[in-house]
Amino acid sequence: TVKRTPFIAGNWKMNLDHLQAIAFVQKLAWSLQDAKHDFDSVEVAVFPPFTDLRSVQTLVSADKLPLAYGAQDVSAQDSGAYTGEISGAFLSQLDCRYVIIGHSERRTLHAETDEVVRAKTAAALKHGIVPVICVGETAEDLEKHGSSAVPVAQLRAALEGVSADAEIVVAYEPVWAIGSGQAATPDQAEAVAAALRGVIAEALGDDAAARTRILYGGSVKSGNIAGFMREPNVDGALVGGASLDVTEFSNIARYQK
Ligand code: G3P
Repeated sequence: TVKRTPFIAGNWKMNLDHLQAIAFVQKLAWSLQDAKHDFDSVEVAVFPPFTDLRSVQTLVSADKLPLAYGAQDVSAQDSGAYTGEISGAFLSQLDCRYVIIGHSERRTLHAETDEVVRAKTAAALKHGIVPVICVGETAEDLEKHGSSAVPVAQLRAALEGVSADAEIVVAYEPVWAIGSGQAATPDQAEAVAAALRGVIAEALGDDAAARTRILYGGSVKSGNIAGFMREPNVDGALVGGASLDVTEFSNIARYQK
């Protein structure tokens, strides 16, 4: 059996400017190092706004901080006349290890379709960045189709054309649980995560399914993280609101304590 390193990721969304980012990342690293966090056994990553990434890169590399970081979106294009877009080439130059793709806020507020998500996934992989592919059902989907159907279809679409040896991360974020204070139950998260692992097996094969990390996201806090992490198919969390507080996020990363 393959060991999947648990992954705790903080999606800052449109919060913390580059000065706040420097202070935050420093404090987070101190807090975790103080607590003797074993970064090899639980990986920790932050996803700041684009304008923070250069500062985060400088800090992480200068202080050799054991934190990973990534961007919240990437263009499907490499370069050219795409005003306001950010190329995966730029992100990889800033040593971004990850990029979030298809967050529900992008799907809803910026009309990102499954096709766009697929193209962005391909762009990330092309530039050597691990896509964190987000899927999840709305409250209405849940009522009409149950919890798995929409996320399963979204992931199937995103994985078309991805090669079997690609490293990806999948995040299951039920839209009704995002920022609502109403997290899914560990059982609910496990059921969908297991279905998503099945999609990975179908699309990329059993090895990929066994090694790919699947995260749960939606109102994760230090008080409920342990329940999710006990589930066999949940390998980590994508945290929004609670990732903006150093102590809270550090406690989430230290869920075993
Ligand atoms: O990407 C993480 C996010 O959508 C979850 O947000 O605030 O419910 O933890 P939150």
